[in-house]
Amino acid sequence: MRLSSGDRLLDIGCGWGGLLCHAARHYGVKAHGVTLSKEQYDYCQDKIAREGLAGQVTVELRDYRTLDQAEACDKIAQIEMFEHVGIDNHDRHFLQMHKLLRSRGLYLHQASTRMATRDLSKFRKPTQYQKVITRFIFPGGEFDYIGLSTTNLERLGFEVHDVEAMREHYIPTLRAWGERLHANQVAAIAEAGAQKCRLWAMYFTLFAFAFERNTVSVFQTLASKRRRGPSGLPLNRESLYRQD
Ligand SMILES: C[S@@+](CC[C@H](N)C(=O)[O-])C[C@H]1O[C@@H](n2cnc3c(N)ncnc32)[C@H](O)[C@@H]1O
Repeated sequence: MRLSSGDRLLDIGCGWGGLLCHAARHYGVKAHGVTLSKEQYDYCQDKIAREGLAGQVTVELRDYRTLDQAEACDKIAQIEMFEHVGIDNHDRHFLQMHKLLRSRGLYLHQASTRMATRDLSKFRKPTQYQKVITRFIFPGGEFDYIGLSTTNLERLGFEVHDVEAMREHYIPTLRAWGERLHANQVAAIAEAGAQKCRLWAMYFTLFAFAFERNTVSVFQTLASKRRRGPSGLPLNRESLYRQD
């Protein structure tokens, strides 16, 4: 996202605040996050205070669809919140990103996807596996395919700059999550109950398997709010990975 000091960064679906605090500490941005989870909101507030980032990082318990200040952000990150949105609401999602970003502002879109079906009219028919996941883990969740995301971005006023496939990164990631849950099983059962812990252990295993089989993928797509003329971005791919 080419973060730099003073950038106004919005993280929609900010989870436990990891990205917000990292971006503020390492890049000097003014970061704002929204989440629907009270537990995450409370945790983020503690984390911000603990890391001495008050004033630089703020979090709200708020639905991102209610954010209404046009062009309030230089950069927006959406990391794995999109799966909660549902295909029927994708236009509304991208139009909201468009409204909140300044002209040429950058939007980083990370979402899990499924493979497009040969007959696209069959794409939304849920598999048995999806039925389990949406019933027990992500109620109402729905994946799209990467071509639909990039098409929608272009349709709704963005220029796509980069699409990076990260499917194989998620296999060790999900295994690590499963191992950590197992290592902390006693505390997790005390907090969430044995049934929920079993479900999440199953979900981590199933999902690692789905990424391994290549039935599910995940992409990071970088886009900017489109306008005519130069994008202002460097003419090489190395700049995507700069560490400064
Ligand atoms: C799967 S978590 C991802 C969290 C974080 N971005 C990460 O990668 O660790 C999804 C997040 O989206 C948030 N969320 C879902 N729908 C939302 C909405 N309508 N408005 C704001 N946050 C939302 C949830 O509260 C949660 O923080």
